[in-house]
Amino acid sequence: MEIYNLKEMLFPYEQAVKELTLKFDSIKNEYRMLGMYSPIEAVTGRVKKMSSILEKASRKKISPDEIRDKIEDIAGIRILCQFVEDIQKVIDLVRERDGRDLFIEEERDYITNTKPSGYRSYHIIVRYPLNTAMGYIEVPAEIQIRTLSMNFWAVTEHSLKYKYSGNIPMDLQKRLINCAEAAFKLDEEMGTIREEIMHAQRLNEVKNNLLNDIIENMHNLYFNAKVEEMDEINRKFVDLWEEGDLDRLREFNQQLNIMTEVYRA
Ligand code: GTP
Ligand code: MG
Repeated sequence: MEIYNLKEMLFPYEQAVKELTLKFDSIKNEYRMLGMYSPIEAVTGRVKKMSSILEKASRKKISPDEIRDKIEDIAGIRILCQFVEDIQKVIDLVRERDGRDLFIEEERDYITNTKPSGYRSYHIIVRYPLNTAMGYIEVPAEIQIRTLSMNFWAVTEHSLKYKYSGNIPMDLQKRLINCAEAAFKLDEEMGTIREEIMHAQRLNEVKNNLLNDIIENMHNLYFNAKVEEMDEINRKFVDLWEEGDLDRLREFNQQLNIMTEVYRA
């Protein structure tokens, strides 16, 4: 692979990042639609910048024609979790796909084995199959799974590393290690209130989904029901919503469902 071909070479990686991001983001949305707690809080993806690819290749003595196989993080996906406990669930979600729409090459557990820098994250290196205009190919991709707190630390440390071209002064390194410990403590503390937070989020989601159902039902009825009937429904809805009792709202929605069915028949 010649250097001048590198730009073209990146095209499949862009496709892989798009597809993988979409797939994990859909899982998040699915959980939420079902009114369930999602172990995935957010998904981001990026293709490594050409300058970083070349820098890494020269640092690791990788020749241009080996770049494609030997640099596994040209395509990178980052899955963020609220809690450390969610990470295992996300790992399971990735493993479930192994041999289906991706192939796991390697797992690196920098959570159990924190890096000397203080870096914590769970990495899964995969090969991702793509059907391109040039035919079937498999591109390497790195999936990083970490909590928001681990991410906050990593992003900050990364920009400092960038600022000091990789040589962060000793005293700053020490402070970063302290920050990593604080981030670790934050994750631990958050873990103790996880159940409570999960419950609150689920409740919110259930309420939102129910509200959407009710509004849709009322919208449909609007075209069929009598004006007085609609007035009555509107009044009742406002009262129930202010009251905030989920069971009674659900009951109300059931009634709307039945009315909608009756009008449809
Ligand atoms: P490079 O670190 O990119 O040379 O990759 P590697 O082949 O040594 O693999 P490794 O598993 O060590 O790192 C892969 C990726 O994890 C990196 O590209 C970073 O995104 C992230 N990473 C690893 N170590 C650190 C670290 O100390 N700080 C930060 N901020 N990120 C790290
Ligand atoms: Mg490294």
